[in-house]
Amino acid sequence: MSGRPGQFGFEYSSVFQDESVVRAYRYRPRYPAATFALLAGLIPERCVPRTVLDAGCGTGLVARPLAALADRVDAVDFSAAAIREGRLLPGGDRPNLRWIEGPIESASVDPPYCLITAGASMHWFNWDVAFPRFARLLAEDGLFVAVGMEHRRPEWMRTELGPVLARYSMNKEFAPYSAAGILAELEERGLFRQMGSAETDLIEWRQPIGEWVESIHARNGFSRDRMDPREAAEADALFAEIATRHADGGDGMITHRYAGRLLWGRPLQGVEYGGGIGGAAGLRPRACHPHRVRVLFPGGGRCPRPGRVARFRTTCAIRPGRRYPGRRVRCGGCGRGASGVC
Ligand SMILES: C[S@@+](CC[C@H](N)C(=O)[O-])C[C@H]1O[C@@H](n2cnc3c(N)ncnc32)[C@H](O)[C@@H]1O
Repeated sequence: MSGRPGQFGFEYSSVFQDESVVRAYRYRPRYPAATFALLAGLIPERCVPRTVLDAGCGTGLVARPLAALADRVDAVDFSAAAIREGRLLPGGDRPNLRWIEGPIESASVDPPYCLITAGASMHWFNWDVAFPRFARLLAEDGLFVAVGMEHRRPEWMRTELGPVLARYSMNKEFAPYSAAGILAELEERGLFRQMGSAETDLIEWRQPIGEWVESIHARNGFSRDRMDPREAAEADALFAEIATRHADGGDGMITHRYAGRLLWGRPLQGVEYGGGIGGAAGLRPRACHPHRVRVLFPGGGRCPRPGRVARFRTTCAIRPGRRYPGRRVRCGGCGRGASGVC
């Protein structure tokens, strides 16, 4: 998987196949309703029928509301338990919503799609396989959209809750990440070109502390099916104690403040990542691959123009040893480019 962070390995993503995680999933916050109008607005006008592929759909927090605004939503997940639950939830039995069980990298789907959505899921995919596949599955002008939430978390969640979560999490490789950071990484790898972003208004949602504690067990490091029950009980008591001390209102409820966040662009085949060259533009090949060659500016890939990010794109599949004298390779950050041979 070419250097994907260990925290996103299958041993962690597979927790979403656990019955206990799926049971707890209903206590996680839902995307603000405005998210879906924004998503529907991203379907290209000329794309008919309005088809959506929801990748890593879980219980359908994106797929079910979106199906009301599209002609068809194909919802793919490798968790049979999540799909079983999703079918029973509101909107889960819509005739234009098709649940498909399988890995997004190979599940049998029915392109072309006007949109491919991924709600809190793209970090789990095998990027090298999934993003080139998305590029092939999208209709002309179709978009990949990372769907997420931007939380305004109170300070105590970072300072007090954070260390307790780290102590009890079974994902010891966990490190903070963001959708924007992952998409920037994918751009660096030539698998994505970001085009836009949008955020809904902030919403407030209150939930009983007991349910919030349960929602933690819908996260990848906290599957009740995998945790030692005594450790889980000990962790729960601490989570509840911290929240009770800090929750505003003193009525046993916890307030979440968050916005829906969309980041969109075009997935790339993975061949559009640089070309081997040297000389004129100061580019040099870093590694050869039958379908992809990474080129970096001297100095570790930093774009020579201050403040710009180096992004390399080319229009052809580059093969080691072959010359591409007419092909241009361009840094999307500063526009410098060259042509050459790997
Ligand atoms: C955090 S959940 C998000 C679910 C839903 N999209 C949402 O917004 O609530 C991540 C989901 O991605 C699924 N998943 C992870 N890797 C996958 C893969 N390679 N293929 C299909 N589904 C995958 C998991 O089973 C899980 O249901």
